Amino acid sequence: MNAATTPSAPGKARTYLSGVQSSGLPHLGNYFGAIRQHIELPLTDPAEHFYFIADYHALTTSRDPEELRERVRETAVTYLALGLDVERATLFRQSDVPEVHEITWLLSCTGGMGLLERAVSFKEKIERGLKPNIGLFLYPALMAADILAYDTTFVPVGADQVQHIEIAQDLAASFNAIYGDVFRRPEALLSREHSKVPGLDGQKMSKSYGNSLWIFETGKLLSKAVGRIATDSRPPEEPKDPAGILLLDFLKLFLDPEDHGQWCARTLAGGPGAPGYGHMKQRLIQAIEERFAPARARREELLKDPAEVDRVLARGALKARARAVAVRDRAFRACGLR
Ligand code: TYM
Repeated sequence: MNAATTPSAPGKARTYLSGVQSSGLPHLGNYFGAIRQHIELPLTDPAEHFYFIADYHALTTSRDPEELRERVRETAVTYLALGLDVERATLFRQSDVPEVHEITWLLSCTGGMGLLERAVSFKEKIERGLKPNIGLFLYPALMAADILAYDTTFVPVGADQVQHIEIAQDLAASFNAIYGDVFRRPEALLSREHSKVPGLDGQKMSKSYGNSLWIFETGKLLSKAVGRIATDSRPPEEPKDPAGILLLDFLKLFLDPEDHGQWCARTLAGGPGAPGYGHMKQRLIQAIEERFAPARARREELLKDPAEVDRVLARGALKARARAVAVRDRAFRACGLR
């Protein structure tokens, strides 16, 4: 990993790019680890921003065509409902930019096999019993192409994607070492506080682990999901180390630091004033309902207007594709295909 740093390809402007797979409903890990940054960054840094729905990647596990189409729409609606400003950022569907497959092939012809063989997320999926297909193995090469196709400088993601970005750096370096300054080196950008959000069972929250909580869950289903957050049988009065309490990790996502600090201090002190797990769950449910209420309402509106969502994605596709075509052409020329 982290082979030679490649010189920057043409173009000095900062470009942010990231993707979310449409393999399930966007969850709290996606939001706090990545999507929140995607929405806030364009407001604070007027660079170029590209965010996409990774439907080609979703196909490594998805087998239901109707469900895939619906999840793509849901992911787009989620970005819009949460407030992505599509005047400042480009929102598009990965499969509207087929050039990424051409770039994947170029990278595959100069990159070493070992890079993909060492990919941790591939090994983890196999360990969890997933039957690997070729696409799952090639996943990081397609992701590298996604990143390099836009001359990306920063990739805002959760911690689980850092190795994939290192693979993109290495694949770019291998190609550039032979053909010159073609691909620009990207860097990962992690959320300072929440780059690894836990799931309901305390492991990393993941669509494929069955431990995730949909951003817009509400009412009884939300109570049921929060009820599943792992606890133990210690009574409320018993003083406890806050560091070992998963519910406090969840509360940290939503409460301001002072408020969260008080919950921790009361838990540590124990005694009659200490909060029980039931109390923490009630507070968490309330916080989730409140935080996402405005976006939940916008989501309902957007679902009634699919044509508007289609328009946003079509506009995004045009802009994203123009950029990817230019990079593909540059790479083709460099290696002798044109
Ligand atoms: P995906 O769909 O698994 O996750 C989308 C984003 O959410 C982040 N994330 C988390 N962050 C913190 N805690 C968690 N528990 C958690 N779970 C997920 C991920 O790190 C990610 O940023 N391979 C990508 C999709 C992709 C992509 C790309 C991303 C395809 N091409 C190019 C960036 C650039 C993925 O599986 O995302």
